[in-house]
Amino acid sequence: MKYYIVTYGCQMNVHESEKIAGILERMGYTCGQSREEADIIVFNTCAIREGAEDRVFGNVGALKKQKKNNKNLIIVVAGCMTQKENTAKHLLKTFPFVDIVIGTFNIAKLEEYIRNVKNGRQLELWAEGEIDESLPYSRSSGENAWVNIMQGCNNFCTYCIVPYVRGREKSRKQEAIISEIKEIIAEGKYKKITLLGQNVNSYGKDLVPAVSFANLLKEICKLQGDFTVSFMTSHPKDLTDELIDTIASEAKVDKYIHLPAQSGDNRILKLMNRRYTREHYLSIINKIRAKIPNCRITSDFIVGFPTETEDEFMRTYSLVEEVKFDGIFAFMYSPREGTVASKMEGQVEEKIKHERVNKLLALEKRIQKEEGKA
Ligand code: 5AD
Ligand code: SF4
Repeated sequence: MKYYIVTYGCQMNVHESEKIAGILERMGYTCGQSREEADIIVFNTCAIREGAEDRVFGNVGALKKQKKNNKNLIIVVAGCMTQKENTAKHLLKTFPFVDIVIGTFNIAKLEEYIRNVKNGRQLELWAEGEIDESLPYSRSSGENAWVNIMQGCNNFCTYCIVPYVRGREKSRKQEAIISEIKEIIAEGKYKKITLLGQNVNSYGKDLVPAVSFANLLKEICKLQGDFTVSFMTSHPKDLTDELIDTIASEAKVDKYIHLPAQSGDNRILKLMNRRYTREHYLSIINKIRAKIPNCRITSDFIVGFPTETEDEFMRTYSLVEEVKFDGIFAFMYSPREGTVASKMEGQVEEKIKHERVNKLLALEKRIQKEEGKA
């Protein structure tokens, strides 16, 4: 019996697919090389932008024939998209051949659902569950081992669907993380450990007693072994001096920070509910560069946020020009159902979003060339 997993979206999802693979392997499935030879196909979906969802609809739809020819094929749709009740219902209606729809909180129940599938379609009820520490991982990212340190997000940036599909911030206990990393090191095949969370800088604030992310990093660096540790994603409003000092002083910590700015304009930042200004963002960059001269810094930007004017976009442009990041991702704003920004007046035309994203990416290309980074 073979499985095949199709993963969309961020590293968190890549890692969650390793968990899904772990569950399936424990049930006796082995990893297949293609959809065609699979007995079970899992789509681990992303909801961050409309384009990601459209791809899922296209790819699930394409399985209709395969399912017709092989009635025993099990099709599962999991991940952020299915955590949205309306989308999940739409999916089930559009694709009667999908067998299991499971949200983000209950992956642990996948085994039970697969066993029950002969009794009819299995549909998760989207309840928030606890993190299951006992689930096995089938790691598949070469020398890099992903380690999840927290789930969820409390920030409610007005454009973002994540808090709705991943729930509130919940940190894993430091001991659980350390023991997982010890096992990873003991396996001997991983050179790099990447800590994952939507907002790693607020790690530990919800633990009793509270601990800081910098403290977690220091504890990890005390472990014996030949490895480096990296992390993502950081939120500028929570990036502390303690963390910058820790990155600077700990030899095992990779000198790299992904620090999404999203916009260079203060009015738009406020509308996005980012809770920092352009000036504050720049002051963090300066601090990082002063204390960690060789630090690589990358960022994310959204263009065409509701009501964004040409001048406001140009302030994003000038921020990118000023900072000269080691890389940026630029996205066209995509309205997500249920978020505050999706209901704002003054949605920007697609054509303008295209123009702005292309302009920003052209600048990025020029900077990479000039700085000899590309
Ligand atoms: N539209 C466009 N881009 C978005 N991002 C998050 N939500 C949206 C949205 N609704 C971008 C942000 C974030 C990255 C992971 O995706 O830039 O940092
Ligand atoms: Fe979304 Fe903002 Fe949370 Fe990042 S910090 S996941 S952009 S709400």
